[in-house]
Amino acid sequence: TTVPVILCGGSGTRLWPRSRVDKPKPFLPLLGERTLFQETLLRCPEDQGFGAPLIVTGNQHLEHVEAQMDVAPGAKVIVEPEGKNTAAAIALAALRLPADAVMLVCPSDHHIGDPEAFVEAARTASEIASSGWLVAFGIEARSPETGFGYLKPAAPIAFGKGFRVYDFIEKPNLEKAKSFIEAGDYFWNGGIFAFTAGLFLEELGEYRPDMLAAARKAVEGGHEDGHRFHPDAAEFARIRGESVDYAVMENSRRAAMVKAFMAWSDIGNWNALKEARQAEDRANVVKGEADLIDCSNVFVETDGPRVSVVGLSDVIVVVDGDEVLVTSAEGAQKVGKLKGAANQ
Ligand code: GDD
Ligand code: MG
Repeated sequence: TTVPVILCGGSGTRLWPRSRVDKPKPFLPLLGERTLFQETLLRCPEDQGFGAPLIVTGNQHLEHVEAQMDVAPGAKVIVEPEGKNTAAAIALAALRLPADAVMLVCPSDHHIGDPEAFVEAARTASEIASSGWLVAFGIEARSPETGFGYLKPAAPIAFGKGFRVYDFIEKPNLEKAKSFIEAGDYFWNGGIFAFTAGLFLEELGEYRPDMLAAARKAVEGGHEDGHRFHPDAAEFARIRGESVDYAVMENSRRAAMVKAFMAWSDIGNWNALKEARQAEDRANVVKGEADLIDCSNVFVETDGPRVSVVGLSDVIVVVDGDEVLVTSAEGAQKVGKLKGAANQ
């Protein structure tokens, strides 16, 4: 079986003021009734052949995780004493699983529009992973985003269902990102991976032996508490905080990808959320009480006060508790730098 490994870390700055450090993006119902974390769990249902999920999260998020994980009965949790980025989080999960288990690593803060396409891609990726590859999900690259990794597919493998990765470039500068888009044969790395626990640990040991050793000690010294596992905090504190993209994927010669053609968004800022919610181009998008006259492409989200806007277009307004944010689409990318977001 394929074990969904759900990564729940990160802080809350880019969707401030709705997302806050003590209640970050995965735990908010941004699209629909369910939170992104719950959507992620529900995307990998048992009746589609997925095993019980393994959630890796920080102490500070445990309360939210436990309050929301009932949509996946049988799920287990690894509680990180502190955030050490994704390579460490995945290593903990890998060390708790049998070597031949296929891990389907899923970020918990994405929106995927068509769950069926996701399940299809996950099946293919799991199959390829079982034959000895670290499989990334390639998403059609639409614009020169610098916050993503880029994949360039090479020779087909597994009867054309997947591709070797010729090049994996994590977070290129704008110039490089533009050249990838112009070249036309690059994919975004969706941040979703499939590999066996054994191969992941082998590759981590090859390129980051110190991290593997520290993770191993943290797990050996850890303890179980019901459905929770607590790694040893002192050992875990020694792990280098590096993402899986830099630590393993950029280096590995076993990197492969599937082309996942599905509506995918990492909802990286308010403008991305607006686009994910927008039924048609330039329509106003409202959540909460608002009064709009002569407006187009205006986004309002308020948890209380009525927001009234007249004669404006292309504006984003967010009200949450005692904070109000007003921004343009371009400005939305810089929200994390605002005092309110940065000094939480
Ligand atoms: N448990 C745990 N612990 N989870 C973590 C930690 C940690 O220390 N750090 C991050 N995560 C979780 C985040 O909550 C998120 O769900 C996922 O791991 C990815 O981390 P991000 O910090 O959001 O990564 P990114 O967006 O900068 O880059 C990754 O995702 C992009 C796609 O959204 C990379 O894989 C890129 O290559 C990729 O394009
Ligand atoms: Mg992200």
